Amino acid sequence: MAWRPDNVRKWSTLALLAIIGTALTAATNPGFVAVISQKGLDFACQQGVAVLKKELQGISIPDFSGEILKTKHLGRGYYNFYSMAVEGFQIPSPQIKLMPSDSLQLSINDASIKISGKWKSRKNFLKGSGKFGLSIQGVSVSADLKLGTDSSGHITATCPTCIGHVNNIRVQVSGGMLGWLIQLFHKKIETSLKSAIYKKICKIVSSSVSSNLQPYLRTLPMIARVDDVAVIDYSLLAPLKITAEFLEGQLKGQFFWREQQHPFPIAPPSMSFSPSHDHMVSLGISNYFFSTAGFVYQESGALRITLRNQMLPKDARFRLNTEFFGTFLPKVAMKFPSMEVQLVMSASLPPHVSIQPSGLSLDPAMETQAFAVLPNSSLVPLFLLGMKTNASLEVDAKGNKLVGELKLDKLMLKLKNSNIGSFQVELLEAVINYLMPTTVLPKINERLHRGFPLPLPAGVHLNNVMFHSYENFLVLEADVYET
Ligand SMILES: *[C@@H]1O[C@H](CO)[C@@H](O)[C@H](O)[C@H]1NC(C)=O
Ligand SMILES: *[C@@H]1O[C@H](CO)[C@@H](O)[C@H](O)[C@H]1NC(C)=O
Repeated sequence: MAWRPDNVRKWSTLALLAIIGTALTAATNPGFVAVISQKGLDFACQQGVAVLKKELQGISIPDFSGEILKTKHLGRGYYNFYSMAVEGFQIPSPQIKLMPSDSLQLSINDASIKISGKWKSRKNFLKGSGKFGLSIQGVSVSADLKLGTDSSGHITATCPTCIGHVNNIRVQVSGGMLGWLIQLFHKKIETSLKSAIYKKICKIVSSSVSSNLQPYLRTLPMIARVDDVAVIDYSLLAPLKITAEFLEGQLKGQFFWREQQHPFPIAPPSMSFSPSHDHMVSLGISNYFFSTAGFVYQESGALRITLRNQMLPKDARFRLNTEFFGTFLPKVAMKFPSMEVQLVMSASLPPHVSIQPSGLSLDPAMETQAFAVLPNSSLVPLFLLGMKTNASLEVDAKGNKLVGELKLDKLMLKLKNSNIGSFQVELLEAVINYLMPTTVLPKINERLHRGFPLPLPAGVHLNNVMFHSYENFLVLEADVYET
């Protein structure tokens, strides 16, 4: 059955339900750790405040009007302030601070707002109208963002408290004749605007959290689809951890595929590292992550390639046929004259990636089954070779994916089984060591270059990437940008 997107979606939901049952109670090591530094929060804050500013531009300020009470010099009258609109919003230094152990605090200090509007007044026979400008200064707002997880295991953010304060309000009236009016009502304008403004800001902060931040967090993939074979389970193993310096998520970090029945015979190692302050994110990627990929691709049969004669490079000095194999295995040419030979190369065991401070290495166990192809296309097995080599894996991050490049050493061969009698496998070493780097490795690397999704929200990409490798895990440090 093909692994179509539709299947993925249905199945992901099922897998998800299964995972949630254990996710938040499992006392196992994470396969993947994501850490956000203050620098990362600063970036998130800039992005968030840009959204906030847009929303704030659109706030409506209620008209207000009143009666001019009788004073010594003036008779009775009425005033009306209306058509007020926000002209500009300055938020000089928004900040998100980590509040151990479960929240973030957004603080806006010294913001200023420019508002323009119209006024009119009537006092006895005197009528006046004009425009005015208000500048509201020293606006500070402090909002708590509480982080948690919902029943589906997604990260949630709510804004349970928000408090605000406005220092002063300065009013300029254009056409200044009626400056006295402003003087008179300064206090009134001030009190009514002050409470309107910070309540509005708090309302917008908390509605932005639920209408912008919350849906954005939901784009963090818990189950990231990799390709037709695999998905990666990035669900949280424990509630987010907030320390004074970092926000940390411990994720399962495990590949799996739909037909997988049994648990992996390996466990995640413990990962202990000091996250970077100079990068926005640090991602700890364990050998478990890579090894589960090895299991999934091997068990699903993806690590298998059939080499046919027409796939050989044009400049190859030999052809995959019984004449050529007959030059060193005469029996092949005698029993199967003028026929093609097919080589099926595969991983005989799941490749296990070992991570050391020196880098990533593998010692893949592979095999090659050779077949003679009869005129009616039936395959006759000739021999089975075991192949061992040392390989190194270089990793990098491109966009929102982890990419790799595999390098193989020379392959050592062993005859595992033969239907044409035993022979010296060394005779085949040159052939196999020519075929592997020219036809098989490019296909593996093409797949590795296409990459594997990292647990990043939609539209977020990595740059300034640095890798450090430790015993059993890698740390990827990077900054992020949004596209
Ligand atoms: C193909 O030919 C071989 C030998 O002539 C025969 O044994 C085999 O049954 C044939 N296979 C098919 C699928 O016809
Ligand atoms: C792999 O590397 C080790 C250590 O360098 C070496 O002893 C071993 O023979 C190599 N194996 C193969 C198959 O090349």
